[in-house]
Amino acid sequence: MSEKERNDAKKGENKDKPGHGKRILLRTFGCQMNERDSELIAGMLLEKGYELVDTPEKAEVVLFNTCSVRQHAEDRVVGNLEKLVSRKKKEPDLKIGVLGCMAKRHGELLLKEFPHLDIVVGASNIYNIPELLEQTFTHQKVIAVNNIKRPVKGPNPVYRAGSFSAFVNIMYGCNNFCSYCIVPHVRGREVSRPKKDILKEIKALADRGFKEVTLLGQNVNSYGRGLSQKIDFPELLEAANKIKGIERIRFVTSHPKDAGKSLFRAMRDLDKVCEHIHLPLQSGSNKILDLMNRKYTAEDYRARIDLLREMLPGAGVTTDIIVGFPSEGEKDQNDTRKAMEEIGCNSAFIFKYSPRPPAISSCLVDNIPEEVKKERNKELLDIQRKISHAKNKEMIDSVQEVLAEGKSRMSDKELVGKTRNNISCVFPGDSDLVGQLVLVRVKSVSPHTLKGELVEKDNE
Ligand code: SAH
Ligand code: SF4
Ligand code: F3S
Repeated sequence: MSEKERNDAKKGENKDKPGHGKRILLRTFGCQMNERDSELIAGMLLEKGYELVDTPEKAEVVLFNTCSVRQHAEDRVVGNLEKLVSRKKKEPDLKIGVLGCMAKRHGELLLKEFPHLDIVVGASNIYNIPELLEQTFTHQKVIAVNNIKRPVKGPNPVYRAGSFSAFVNIMYGCNNFCSYCIVPHVRGREVSRPKKDILKEIKALADRGFKEVTLLGQNVNSYGRGLSQKIDFPELLEAANKIKGIERIRFVTSHPKDAGKSLFRAMRDLDKVCEHIHLPLQSGSNKILDLMNRKYTAEDYRARIDLLREMLPGAGVTTDIIVGFPSEGEKDQNDTRKAMEEIGCNSAFIFKYSPRPPAISSCLVDNIPEEVKKERNKELLDIQRKISHAKNKEMIDSVQEVLAEGKSRMSDKELVGKTRNNISCVFPGDSDLVGQLVLVRVKSVSPHTLKGELVEKDNE
C-alpha cells in the first residue's frame, strides 16, 4: 500500500472523529517542557482522529509550539511563520497556530501582526487545544492565553515520542522571577502535581517497557509546595525509585538556592537516581547574581558543589551561564571565568543576554554591545571546552553504564548514549542494542564525547 493509500484508509477510519484524518505538522522550539507539551498535544490530537506528518508541505494544519526565552528563539518562529504567508493565500483552508510561550507573551498582538494565523494558545491552556482547533474549521480565529496556573489534572494520552526514555512533568510554572527570565511570565505560577498522579504515570511507562524517566520542573527542588500531602522532592525520588522496570531516574532543573544535602543524599542512596545535576550558575559575579535576583553567591554555589562531590565523587555537574547582563564589566566576566575554572563543570551552556519584557531586567539598559557579548561568550566556551576535555580524560579506562539511544551521527556501525553522569558516549554496536543498558570501557575522549568499547556484563 502506498503512503497515500494508507493515509486515505486512515482518513476513512477517522472520518467520524472531529479531526477527520486531517494532517498536522507540530514543530517544537525550546526546552524539555515544550517537548513534553508537544507530545501531550500530539497525543490529544491523535485521539481526536488527526494524523501527524513531518513537513509543512504535507500538512493541512501547521502548529508551532514556541519558546520565548531569548529573542533568537522567537525570531526562528517568526521566520517559519513568514514562510507560510504565500501558501495561506493560495490555500485559505490551511490552519496555522502558535502555541506555548510566545502565544502567552504576545497574545492578541500575534493575530494582528500575522493575519494568516488562526489559533494562539498558551501553555497553561494546553488541554483545550483539540476543541479550540476544531473551532478554527468554522473559520473563526481562536485565542486562549488566560490561565495563570496550569490545571494539575488533564488528559494524559498514551502517545509517547520514544519507547525507552520519557519525560514526566512533576510541576508546572515558576515563582522565582529571576530578573532576566520570561518563564514565570509565560508559564505562570508554580504548581506541583500530586505524587500519586506522577507515580501512576511512571508506573504506566514502566509497564510499557520504558527504562528511563526524566522528571521535569523549572525548579524541581521546590516540588511539593502547596500540595495537601506533605512531600518534598527527595521523598518523591524515593517513591519513584521503588517502581519496578524503571532503571534510571533523571531530573531537571535544580536551583542552587534549593538544592542541598537531602537531594544529594537521594542521588547517592537511591540506586536508580542518576548521578547528575543540572545546576545553572548564571554568573560568577555576586554583583550580577544579585541583579539577577538569584538569591545565592558564587561562594554558596561552590560550597554546594563541594558538598555534592564529597558525598558523591564522580557526580556530573552541568550549568548555564549568561554573558552580557546589563552593567556586566570585565571584573564580572573575570569572576565568572574564575568560578568556572574552580568549579569545573562537565559542560555548560553559555548564553548571550537577551532582554525579555516584561521580565524586570528589561528595565535596565541593555548596555553591553553585541560584539562584547560575542567575545565573552566565545571566551567562556573556549574555557569550558578545555575543562570538559580534562574532565572527560579522567574517565579514560573507567567502565560506564550507558543507555544506548540510537545510531551515532558519525557512523552507522556506532551507537551513542549517555552515561549515568550524563556524558555522551559513542561505541561500536548493533542497532538491536538501542534502548538497552550496556557497559562501555572508555578508551579515548574528545571535549564533549567519550569513545569506548562494549564490555560483557559478566566480566565486570
Ligand atoms: N528553569 C530553568 C530553565 C530556565 S531557561 C532554570 O532555572 O535553570 C534556561 C536557561 O536560559 C537559563 O538557565 C538561563 O541561563 C538562560 N536564559 C534565561 N533567560 C535568558 C535571557 N533573558 N537571556 C539569555 N539567557 C537566558
Ligand atoms: Fe527562570 Fe529563574 Fe524560574 Fe529558572 S528559576 S525558570 S531561570 S525564573
Ligand atoms: Fe521552555 Fe522556552 Fe518556554 S525555555 S518554558 S519553551 S520560554
